[in-house]
Amino acid sequence: MYLQFLFALLMSRHQIVATENFDRAFELALFLDRIGRVHRLHAITIVNSVGSVDPSYLDDLHRELMCNSSNHFYLLPQMTATDKDCSRVRFNSLQDEETIYLVFARDSKDAVIYLQAERARGRRYTRTMFMLRKQESQKDMKYFFELLWKLQFRSALVVVAARNFYQMDPYPTVRVIRMRRLSSYDPHHVFPPANRRNFRGYRMRLPVQQDVPNTFWYKNRRTKAWELAGLGGILINQLMMHLNVTMDLFRFEVNGSTLLNMAALTDLIVEGKAELSPHLYDTLQSNTNVDYSYPTQVAPRCFMIPLDNEISRSLYVFLPFSLPMWLCLLFVLLVVHFVYVRRLMPDGPFWALLGVPGAGPVKYGHRKPGRGLSTFLILFGIFILVQMYSTKLTSSLTVTLIRRPANSLEEMFLLPYRILVLPTDVYAIVDSLGHAMQFSTKFSITDAHNFSMKRISMDPNYIYPISTIRWRFFDFQQRFLRKKRFYFSKICHGSFPYQYQLRVDSHLKDALHRFLLHVQQAGLDDLWLETSYRKAHRMGYLKDFSTLAELEEKLRLRPLALNLLVPAFSLFLCGLLGSGIAFLVEIRHSFGCRQKPPSINRNPGD
Ligand SMILES: *[C@@H]1O[C@H](CO)[C@@H](O)[C@H](O)[C@H]1NC(C)=O
Ligand SMILES: *[C@@H]1O[C@H](CO)[C@@H](O)[C@H](O)[C@H]1NC(C)=O
Ligand SMILES: *[C@@H]1O[C@H](CO)[C@@H](O)[C@H](O)[C@H]1NC(C)=O
Ligand SMILES: *[C@@H]1O[C@H](CO)[C@@H](O)[C@H](O)[C@H]1NC(C)=O
Repeated sequence: MYLQFLFALLMSRHQIVATENFDRAFELALFLDRIGRVHRLHAITIVNSVGSVDPSYLDDLHRELMCNSSNHFYLLPQMTATDKDCSRVRFNSLQDEETIYLVFARDSKDAVIYLQAERARGRRYTRTMFMLRKQESQKDMKYFFELLWKLQFRSALVVVAARNFYQMDPYPTVRVIRMRRLSSYDPHHVFPPANRRNFRGYRMRLPVQQDVPNTFWYKNRRTKAWELAGLGGILINQLMMHLNVTMDLFRFEVNGSTLLNMAALTDLIVEGKAELSPHLYDTLQSNTNVDYSYPTQVAPRCFMIPLDNEISRSLYVFLPFSLPMWLCLLFVLLVVHFVYVRRLMPDGPFWALLGVPGAGPVKYGHRKPGRGLSTFLILFGIFILVQMYSTKLTSSLTVTLIRRPANSLEEMFLLPYRILVLPTDVYAIVDSLGHAMQFSTKFSITDAHNFSMKRISMDPNYIYPISTIRWRFFDFQQRFLRKKRFYFSKICHGSFPYQYQLRVDSHLKDALHRFLLHVQQAGLDDLWLETSYRKAHRMGYLKDFSTLAELEEKLRLRPLALNLLVPAFSLFLCGLLGSGIAFLVEIRHSFGCRQKPPSINRNPGD
């Protein structure tokens, strides 16, 4: 048994030794066979460009791979692709990650490399062998590996002129490793490992733009250094610390502004000038040339509507009853006057006592029980009504009077405010909510600077679209206000994912995903929301309205609002005038007829 094992070992040694160069197809086939067996690969894909390999060599390779039923790739799927193949099929829809790609290229600048990068999107962990036909200089090799790293081939073995073998170690900087004797390597280490936990101080340039609360600059008081802060910023900070990555932050200005400009950021990534953008952003317009992380959060966008529609104080006395109640009251009064006073009980003693015009003089002696009861009922009703009115008035004076918040589109269109939007928002809003006509009259389109300035300072002249996450943050500003500035309506659209933007097949993607999962499980988001708020407040990106409100209240010292009493006083004067006239009429009447002395009159306004 032991001997057999030794023999097998010797045999395998012999096989590997025999593959010191791939001049002949069967040597390459042997090597592939061994790699396939060790890594238990499920498939092999051979890609070549015109002139990169002899057709006879390729035929031999195919034959050698398939010839023997004990070969690893004997019955496994094989795929051959050339650079002529224009189909848009991606390899990842056909094969899993346990595949080996064999790419034949003429030289380090062959277009087939880019084609492979495009086709093998999502398969960057996969072992990939690049067979360059032409001999390349050391300098060219360095550039070639830098290109491979830029295209994020993480497990690449490069064979130049069928006999020189190269690997790379990308951390902390891309380093080319010349492999003297392939046979001296453990087969597990022939291809570099795709994933690393420690990036060993890998330097990464990160563009930073301002987007409170997701990303902004923060000056650390202790170290006096500018740091990345914000909901997205903190996460990226922590992740990079965890991975041992050195961040090279830079202020990314576009046209003289550092406000978030997602189009410019994605362009930067597509051009290869940045690997990752630390900006958590909704993916309304996604770009296929950029990868996105898992949605960190999913949130709808709703409208925040100003609450500054306080009802004029001069109308307070009319408020306790709504219009139907007033009408009802008027109706009851008319019925009482014309039906009871004039018809049914023209001589009721009660009316006379009250001094109602048209009532007969007070008569004592003959009281009917029915009349007494109805008099009592009416008195009681008036009593209830008066009580109700005064209770409602006093209770409404003790709270601030605010109209009912608009929670439907129709109600929102009736509000006297315009909706401040960015040009990119218009389509998204109208597309999901409809009502293009009404919206077009309501929209006030502005640029990113004005929009973000007005929204963060909660300028109460506009309605703004805002995501729930951002609202939670902005709402902090008014948490101490007795009278809030804005409320968050239920008029929403979408549920938009909030994602980070990465280079295609970025080596940071999986680490980021794992980290996101842990952060979410630990519920760190809520904690970071408050941390970010404190930092943003300290840096002056936003105000806390509590102190401002106190100031306003101190400046507007009004111990007694006299204008509140004006309508009440005028109502009283009207009543006084009316009763005066009634009094005069009655006096004239009684003096003119010379009957009995006038009864005691009372003002209804008393
Ligand atoms: C197939 O491979 C085995 C072991 O490598 C070898 O003994 C056998 O001769 C081969 N058969 C053919 C037809 O090449
Ligand atoms: C980060 O990388 C540097 C450079 O390789 C190394 O000296 C340091 O120990 C690493 N730090 C951690 C925490 O692994
Ligand atoms: C910068 O401004 C110029 C001129 O106003 C404009 O054409 C260009 O698109 C702007 N660039 C970006 C990235 O917005
Ligand atoms: C932005 O605000 C400034 C100052 O208030 C104003 O002059 C400018 O016209 C505004 N821009 C837009 C696009 O509304």
